[in-house]
Amino acid sequence: MQTILVTGSAGFIGFHVSRALLESGHRVIGLDSHNDYYSQTLKADREAQLTPHKGFTAVHGKVEDPGLLMSLFEEYRPDGVIHLAAQAGVRYSIENPRAYVEANLVGTFELLEAARAFPPQHMMMASTSSVYGANTKMPYSETDKTEAPLSFYAATKKSNEVMAHSYAHLFKLPITMFRFFTVFGPWGRPDMAPHLFTDAILKGEPIKVFNHGDMQRDFTYIDDLVAGILGLLQQAPTASAVEGDSLSPVAPWRAVNIGNGAPVKLIDFISAIETTLGLEAQKRMMPMQPGDVSATWADDNLIGQLIGGIPKTPLADAVEAYVGWFGSYYA
Ligand SMILES: NC(=O)c1ccc[n+]([C@@H]2O[C@H](COP(=O)([O-])OP(=O)(O)OC[C@H]3O[C@@H](n4cnc5c(N)ncnc54)[C@H](O)[C@@H]3O)[C@@H](O)[C@H]2O)c1
Repeated sequence: MQTILVTGSAGFIGFHVSRALLESGHRVIGLDSHNDYYSQTLKADREAQLTPHKGFTAVHGKVEDPGLLMSLFEEYRPDGVIHLAAQAGVRYSIENPRAYVEANLVGTFELLEAARAFPPQHMMMASTSSVYGANTKMPYSETDKTEAPLSFYAATKKSNEVMAHSYAHLFKLPITMFRFFTVFGPWGRPDMAPHLFTDAILKGEPIKVFNHGDMQRDFTYIDDLVAGILGLLQQAPTASAVEGDSLSPVAPWRAVNIGNGAPVKLIDFISAIETTLGLEAQKRMMPMQPGDVSATWADDNLIGQLIGGIPKTPLADAVEAYVGWFGSYYA
């Protein structure tokens, strides 16, 4: 049994990760601000699934609160950290960039400082496929350039990667940066396409299909992603282990894509929802959104080498599980 600090534990991914850790016998300290970026009821309902576990301790606060993370590290001395708290969302970063500076830049800095004082065996942090920006070479590989983010969200996540690299190098902190690819599944985020599509189709309202449908995403099912995160927990990079397999020749730091490795056309994703619901979507074709990219696709060779890859739930099964949960939760 290990003590794992999970930030963003009332969030979509943080909730699933915390639950899986608790079910594997770990102790979880779950920090979340329960901010109002989207439904606080959904966050409270997720957390309510975790609180009956005796290994779970909920802490409500912001990662950027000065001294909060330091005091949590001092009290609990976590063996591992899974940092998922962040201001997420490409579109909202155009409207409210300051939220990204506070949560993603200042918050990650506070976390790194706490880890410097009380070093865990392994820190894992969420980055995003958005760091690949305008890259057109597919699939996206961890060794591709990531210097040209197209949104401020991506810029803060890229900054987190390089901030973490400097701490990994200076203080020999083993750090893994996950680059997640469009994650969906039960308890998913209401600001993301699977929710927006399912909700609108059920209500008989039109759905917005951006870039006139010429989009593809490497949709990753939540259970497959969680298996990857838990698998990597015991694979802390060492300075020598990363040599040659990542961007870093010296620091115990690596970036790892976690994606399905098979991009799906947006139109096919919508069709899978339509089939599951037995309803047809009214599609409103729209231009490309600022800050967005037309395609994502994870090169999954590195995670294959590290842990043998992640499970790949077939799209139809994943959509069925998601839509089934949606119907029962929002009934
Ligand atoms: N879901 C995806 O497809 C996806 C893709 C790429 C990267 N990511 C990244 O993965 C992580 C988790 O994403 P998610 O989809 O679960 O998002 P989420 O918004 O559901 O979860 C984030 C959680 O962090 C909390 N939070 C936000 N700001 C905070 C702060 N300042 N202090 C403490 N808690 C705070 C929120 O209340 C929320 O519960 C994020 O870092 C996100 O950027 C997600």
